[in-house]
Amino acid sequence: MCGIVGFTGRQQAAPILLDGLEKLEYRGYDSAGIAVAAAGGAGTQDKPSAQSGLHTEKGSSIEIVKAKGRLKVLREMTDDGRSVPGTCGIGHTRWATHGEPSVLNAHPHYAKDRRVAVVHNGIIENYQQIREKLTKEGFSFLTATDTEAAAHLLDKYYSGNPIEAISKLMFHVRGSYALGILFADRPGEIYAVRKDSPLIVGRSEQGNFIASDVPAILKYTRDVCFIPNLEIVKLTETEIHFYNVDQEEVEETFSQINWDTEAAEKGGFAHFMLKEIYEQPKAVRDTVSPRISEGHVNLDELGMSREELAKVSRIQMVACGSAYHVCMTAKYMIEQTARVPVDVDLASEFRYRNPVMEKDTLVIVVSQSGETADSLAALREAKKLGYHVLGIVNVVGSSIAREADSVFYTWAGPEISVATTKAYSTQLAAVYLLAIGLGRAKGVIDEIAETEMVEELSRLPEKIERILEEKERIQWFANKFSHSKDIFFIGRGLDYASSLEGSLKLKEISYIHSEAYAAGELKHGTISLIEDGILVVGVATQKSLFEKLISNMVEVKSRGAYVLGVTSYGNYSMEDVANYTIYVPKTMECFAASLVVVPLQLLAYYVALGKGLDVDKPRNLAKSVTVE
Ligand code: AGP
Repeated sequence: MCGIVGFTGRQQAAPILLDGLEKLEYRGYDSAGIAVAAAGGAGTQDKPSAQSGLHTEKGSSIEIVKAKGRLKVLREMTDDGRSVPGTCGIGHTRWATHGEPSVLNAHPHYAKDRRVAVVHNGIIENYQQIREKLTKEGFSFLTATDTEAAAHLLDKYYSGNPIEAISKLMFHVRGSYALGILFADRPGEIYAVRKDSPLIVGRSEQGNFIASDVPAILKYTRDVCFIPNLEIVKLTETEIHFYNVDQEEVEETFSQINWDTEAAEKGGFAHFMLKEIYEQPKAVRDTVSPRISEGHVNLDELGMSREELAKVSRIQMVACGSAYHVCMTAKYMIEQTARVPVDVDLASEFRYRNPVMEKDTLVIVVSQSGETADSLAALREAKKLGYHVLGIVNVVGSSIAREADSVFYTWAGPEISVATTKAYSTQLAAVYLLAIGLGRAKGVIDEIAETEMVEELSRLPEKIERILEEKERIQWFANKFSHSKDIFFIGRGLDYASSLEGSLKLKEISYIHSEAYAAGELKHGTISLIEDGILVVGVATQKSLFEKLISNMVEVKSRGAYVLGVTSYGNYSMEDVANYTIYVPKTMECFAASLVVVPLQLLAYYVALGKGLDVDKPRNLAKSVTVE
């Protein structure tokens, strides 16, 4: 997820762009840049490339300044925008997906001699093919980004008609994109186009805007239009025109935004956590779809050949917190799908236990931030022992991503809330893809099974959306238990892993004591804790274990517990035992964790909300635990 801003009007653009980008840093902040149509034509002189910055060179009427790091670096480089004259420009704050965070990879990207400058939010899935084709046609690429492919495509198709060039790009690009575009010979004009990534247009007395999100322009206007999908926009200082992909002009309506700035940063949601829960369908889709081609899983990015994958005799997974629960889920899922034994360890334990592992063990470290000290130390320990380490990481260029031998990025975008939700869901998706790829490499599953699993995997986002549509039922239930003292979660197999995650979510944001137990363990001591009215959440999606879980729920209910059942549609016998039941759509049992986690996230969120707590910044916790 990245942030885009554009302005064309009667004021200097650069300060306005920097203001807007600052409001979008929650969408990404590893590097930033602006492109401004230089006042009075051709660019000025070469400017020294500061250590962390890049200035445009001679001859272009578009001046480009880029910097690595937070936006303040770019502000310092441009004297808060004052050193980049011009009244028309675009800006970008980056969350890297393809290509390390660096000055070179920062946006805007441009074609040769800067005829075209582009800022992009989204993922161009076929950028490699475009890159190869354009390279053969003589285009030369400077960066490792997917966005540069869009810049060169526009340069290729531009012969004086921007709308035509953009329309041609749309027919050649697969994936998601919101593009802000400057053409050097069209001073004062900004073009934009979107497919699946958000982009709005704003209009005001001072001029006209594009932005990824409302916060960027609220200071200047509340009069906005959410650009419909697959539409092109042309902005001048005084006019805004919309076109469809066939280059026909269309009319669009504007609306008044009545959010305040803070609410706008959360997209109208009360908290980042709820916003990120609702971003899960897109995050899972963004993580899965680029890895699927013609019904098959493509794991080329691991840099491991099919033979190397087939040789993996054992997997050792290591992580902390919620990422550890992903590993617990992975154990059941990979062992069922690829018949490879999986060991799971807390990173803080693994790093000190002088582990004994078989020769062909693949070590997998899972981490949203890629900076968790214990997980990084575990990675280094495994590498020191000579093992191949794969990192499943959400932050491009993070320590774990850089030090792992192979990296599988989750594309959840920046996760602001301390309690992880969308990153967790994308980690699960990453594990599914890995399991399917391993299962195929080892010949455990055939092509038909792979296609069936890939098809179901691609349906998970819409199934998560269906659960979110019923949040009121969960909210109502949660409000009844906001003042509980103890809440227990029980499950078997994959559902035990989901119970662990549900319990942690609840603990970390509501401060209510909670435990998760393998349901078969209750009779070995824990059941002594069950008293009248204690809430026990039973998670049951695994057919072969369903009746067993039901009997565990009867055990606790007969001792006074109030029982909430979380299960798949069709398992209506749950209602014979549970006091209240939440259903999730049916899916392949190996993917069920991705669905049951959503009601558990919402339960935790609404219980904490009922207690009036600071859901996004819970006490004593940090988003990334970079110390031991
Ligand atoms: C999860 O909601 C917590 N914020 C915490 O357990 C987290 O999962 C853990 O600290 C690991 O973080 P990482 O994924 O960035 O390594």
